[in-house]
Amino acid sequence: MKKIYVPMIRYGDKEFDEGFIGWGFQSMEEQIRDARAVMDIISRDGLKILDIACGLGTYHKVWLEAGHTVVGTDLSETFITMARNTNTGAAYRVENFYDLEEENEYDLVTMIDTPVEDEDVPRNVYRALKPDGSFVFQLSNPVYKHLRGQKLENSRSWKENEDRTFLLTRHEYNEDIDRWEYEEWHLNLETGDVLIEHNFSTHLTFSRLVDILLAVGFCSVSILDADGRPYTTSHEDPKNFFCVARKGMK
Ligand SMILES: C[S@@+](CC[C@H](N)C(=O)[O-])C[C@H]1O[C@@H](n2cnc3c(N)ncnc32)[C@H](O)[C@@H]1O
Repeated sequence: MKKIYVPMIRYGDKEFDEGFIGWGFQSMEEQIRDARAVMDIISRDGLKILDIACGLGTYHKVWLEAGHTVVGTDLSETFITMARNTNTGAAYRVENFYDLEEENEYDLVTMIDTPVEDEDVPRNVYRALKPDGSFVFQLSNPVYKHLRGQKLENSRSWKENEDRTFLLTRHEYNEDIDRWEYEEWHLNLETGDVLIEHNFSTHLTFSRLVDILLAVGFCSVSILDADGRPYTTSHEDPKNFFCVARKGMK
């Protein structure tokens, strides 16, 4: 039996990215609402904005129309090409956010609908910001029950396809560490091949995130909802919060 492991999320792989466009991005209304919320939270004119992991950058039009300068970067050449064709006023480049090397360039760096998973991204962003600049990104609400619902319950299933191949799925959620795993085994008994697609996600806790942001140099961190209200624990809504980290005047 030959086992082939493939990550389920493969940003930068053309075929994956083209499929992702059909299911992976937030709705247009959600994107526009988030883009406006970022502007309300920062509330300054004439910003030079860097949006990392910008995807299609559909929401950049909100910032361009308000007179800001927008630079968008993403790992995916497919998404960047589409973003370029949509928003003629912005500048785009294909770039892994782990390779961001700019210094003192931006008033605001954003990361929408993409989690911060370690300290490397905040460190790079801190360097890229001008003094008094801000990093605004989204955090998912750990008690957002609608999201957890069916999708995050533990389950295993198998399905026999017409061509006598089998699909086995495993979904496990560990509430204590907010980690979920999803695995699909595509079994072909005739060839003996097993293709295993795997995906997992672990969110940093809010307090760990704050520790990371302060450790890389940010002078203050706040967690707000889209209306600018401070985060309060145990509220099921909203689905996402905004984290605002300020660089200070250094
Ligand atoms: C869920 S999409 C969100 C895109 C966009 N910000 C939005 O809100 O529509 C996640 C994005 O992160 C990008 N991404 C993931 N890892 C990345 C990395 N290491 N460097 C740059 N972009 C990355 C993906 O290509 C994808 O466009």
